[in-house]
Amino acid sequence: MEPISRRTALTLGGLGLAGTTVGAAGLLWTSTSGIDTQTRAGEQLREPFELRSADGRLQLRLDAARGTAQIGGRSASVLSYNGGIPGPTLRLKAGDRLALSLNNDLVDPTNLHVHGLHVSPQDNGDNPFVMVEPGDAFDYEYQLPADHPPGVYWYHPHHHGAVADQIFGGLYGAIIVEDPKSIDAARERVLVISDITLDGRGSIAAVSPMEQMLGREGEIVLVNGQVNPTLNARPGERERWRIVNACVSRYLRLQLGGQRMQLLGIDSGRFAKPRTVEEIVLTPGNRADVLVTMAVGTAILETQSYDRGSAGGMMGGNGRPRSGTAAGRAQLATLAVAGETVPAAAEVPVQLMPRDLRGSVVTARRELTFAMDMGGMMGPNGMMSFTINGQRFDRKRVDVTVAAGSTEEWTLRNTSPMDHPMHLHVWPMQLVGDNSGSAAAVWQDVVNVPARGQVRVRIVFDGFRGRSVYHCHILDHEDNGMMGVIEAR
Ligand code: C2O
Ligand code: CU
Ligand code: CU
Repeated sequence: MEPISRRTALTLGGLGLAGTTVGAAGLLWTSTSGIDTQTRAGEQLREPFELRSADGRLQLRLDAARGTAQIGGRSASVLSYNGGIPGPTLRLKAGDRLALSLNNDLVDPTNLHVHGLHVSPQDNGDNPFVMVEPGDAFDYEYQLPADHPPGVYWYHPHHHGAVADQIFGGLYGAIIVEDPKSIDAARERVLVISDITLDGRGSIAAVSPMEQMLGREGEIVLVNGQVNPTLNARPGERERWRIVNACVSRYLRLQLGGQRMQLLGIDSGRFAKPRTVEEIVLTPGNRADVLVTMAVGTAILETQSYDRGSAGGMMGGNGRPRSGTAAGRAQLATLAVAGETVPAAAEVPVQLMPRDLRGSVVTARRELTFAMDMGGMMGPNGMMSFTINGQRFDRKRVDVTVAAGSTEEWTLRNTSPMDHPMHLHVWPMQLVGDNSGSAAAVWQDVVNVPARGQVRVRIVFDGFRGRSVYHCHILDHEDNGMMGVIEAR
């Protein structure tokens, strides 16, 4: 290892410039990717290929491979599942069994995670410790419980150290767990939102240590792998949009001016009644289940800027106060509503109320502190280290042991000047305390822990035993150690 002082100097010296570049990326009219992201609406929105379970089962093969994709009219060298960005959408029902055979045709190890599904983390279930070497295959099998919550989930690689690169490269896809009682909609759309930066030759641009420290944000924001696609609808139609934030680090603050958006829920959470909202904030990893009622005219789906804090303050006098984590505005898609008005859709059936742990007996309380340290422990890239309770990820160490079936309350603290979206596998979290923000129970599987702030969540460790993980879903932070191991036994 090089002397820390020199490494530190290199990292710090680059801060002002690198930060400026990242921060400005969203404002540029043309990017180094050579793609004009701000002008005319692009081609029609493509839906990812869809596979539906039958007789309680869905079986498929997923090939992770490098290939060529058309992005914004340019040919790009990307990673994909089964040749698509995103990979196929998997439609399941509660109680189904999903059998996925993952083929690794990449040049690096990979594996698979079914984000948000309440399934076993053991053996060939949703086991983040599995490693699939290049050229190898692995057969995953997931049994969804009969009472699995409906909603939007997703799958992506989870091989520690390579997660950000592989997702940034194009490896992600949506999973839908259907509603027990269907909700009337003219059509359903899956909108997987991701970001990417291409270099002059159409390859994924290299990422600097500074971008990794801040959490990389791609120059181009894609919807289903497309640049500013067009969606057509008729006035009065109600559509169901299943939105996934598959960006490595970018927070989305989605707005759709002039159109009525009703939020059914975030992640596996559901409200008893859909909420009319002006905007939807999704941290990396979050999903939204949304109803849009169409009004005549052209609307832009855009993400407004979101300030997730800065690293500059930590850098002594050297850094700028803001160093690039305030994502810029970006136009994601164009919605054109025209034609004859159709009659209003049927009322949304009352949704099953999620359980509410605010009155429950808590069996244990814990604190998890998310920190960025300049201290003696430098990360592998000579950047600062990302820790939870003072430690970097070690797959051989169990950080938290919980009793299967118990209910715990966790206080998530963030001592750093940047937000960290905390994600726990297998078991969703209920926001409690001041941050729950509503009288209804709010459940999510990624919860934002604001810069120098804290949140409280409650968790029931039901259904499964075994080892899994929790981590920051800014995947550069996760890859650099901001992850811990949990075991339920
Ligand atoms: Cu979507 Cu462990 O992550
Ligand atoms: Cu996950
Ligand atoms: Cu983080």
